[in-house]
Amino acid sequence: MDKIIVEGGASLEGEVKISGAKNAALPILVSSLLADGWNTYSNVPDLKDVKSIKQLLLYLGAKVETDGSTVRIDGGGLCKSEASYDLVRKMRASILVLGPLVARLKKAKVSLPGGCAIGARPINLHLKGLARLGASIELKHGYVEVSTEGLRGSEIYFDIATVTGTENLIMAAVLADGVTVLRNAACEPEIVALVDVLNKMGADIHGAGTSVITIKGVQSLRPVSVSIIPDRIEAGTFMVSAALTRGNITILNCEPTHMGAVIHKLRLIGTDIKIDDKKIHVVGSDEIESVDIKTLPYPGFPTDMQAQFMVLMSVAKGLSNISETVFENRFIHVSELKRMGADITISGNSAMVKGVPMLLGAPVIATDLRASASLILAGLVAKGKTEVHRVYHLDRGYEAIEKKFSQLGASIKRVPE
Ligand code: EPZ
Repeated sequence: MDKIIVEGGASLEGEVKISGAKNAALPILVSSLLADGWNTYSNVPDLKDVKSIKQLLLYLGAKVETDGSTVRIDGGGLCKSEASYDLVRKMRASILVLGPLVARLKKAKVSLPGGCAIGARPINLHLKGLARLGASIELKHGYVEVSTEGLRGSEIYFDIATVTGTENLIMAAVLADGVTVLRNAACEPEIVALVDVLNKMGADIHGAGTSVITIKGVQSLRPVSVSIIPDRIEAGTFMVSAALTRGNITILNCEPTHMGAVIHKLRLIGTDIKIDDKKIHVVGSDEIESVDIKTLPYPGFPTDMQAQFMVLMSVAKGLSNISETVFENRFIHVSELKRMGADITISGNSAMVKGVPMLLGAPVIATDLRASASLILAGLVAKGKTEVHRVYHLDRGYEAIEKKFSQLGASIKRVPE
């Protein structure tokens, strides 16, 4: 295992290129199972989670070739309908194979993903949706077994706007007989990206990006060549680093229209942000104002940016109330930030953050992907040295983050534990 050592104090300056979005790449690579023939995906990020999903697709019978950030997948060899615990436990998003497997093979046996550090993460809404399409569902020995004579279009209402649940049901419905309507569907840009790919493959889907998505089943899909959209959470993380270190950063290869809530909040705290098509210029202000945050499904403030923004509020002027409405346990980073001198009080799903003049470097432990990023950010602005342990969490969702920060002038290095 590696650790990352950060010496705080540098004001970050320069340009950083954003990689492809993890949460778009995962469902899009899985969508290759829905067609025979070679799909070509470019701008695929080099992440542990992407490696895990490629392993799973290979195991299921697909052919996978990787050449740098281009990945080619032929789903025509799909022959297995089972995703083992060993594969799924590595990455819960493996559950995304459920929809395509049932759509193509009329059956699937997938290990229940289980919870993770940030919450129980159930998949009941995924399964309720599949049942509405005419699948029978059995939960046995930690696995979910799904089978059908043939999926039929139906109306599905999500009690919660679940991102991967929406993606799973879209991929299940594209080859179903008839029309499926998803209500209270998630609106994230990653869903719009997936639907753009599926429609290029010959699907007939309308309403992506809104809470009502209509999928007209088609006979078959064909392979495509597409590029993965930029990662809005990686971009937001670097924007926060500019605000935090009173730096001056240009974010390249990003999609500002996907980042409205984050840009709005950064401007409120005094950050100067100029948008120039696919570039964002971010200049941090000397004084950081406090602002309240409430995480919500898109287009609300993203839960995946909550930990990063909390670091900003830890050194802001005044009090900030941060409420996490999406996951039930997404304040794990708080205890580590407090060890660095942050003044944070948790009450239920809210955290009251009182800005302090300075954080102090310390050895800290990463617990989940975005918490890890927040600890790196804290190290960038803290006085002295911060050692972030268990950075394998970071590698799941950030491509070469220490190299990118180092290129911006940070004193940061990765060393073996
Ligand atoms: C996706 O997770 C993202 N992961 C998460 O990003 C992101 O935080 C989350 O959406 C919210 O935006 C991927 O896209 C691979 P949900 P997902 O289903 O789909 C509850 C990261 O850091 N729920 O939208 O698993 C659930 O417990 C990761 O990149 C049910 O109750 O999230 C949660 O409270 C972390 N039953 C809420 O809905 C279900 O069947 C939203 O979860 C499904 C979800």
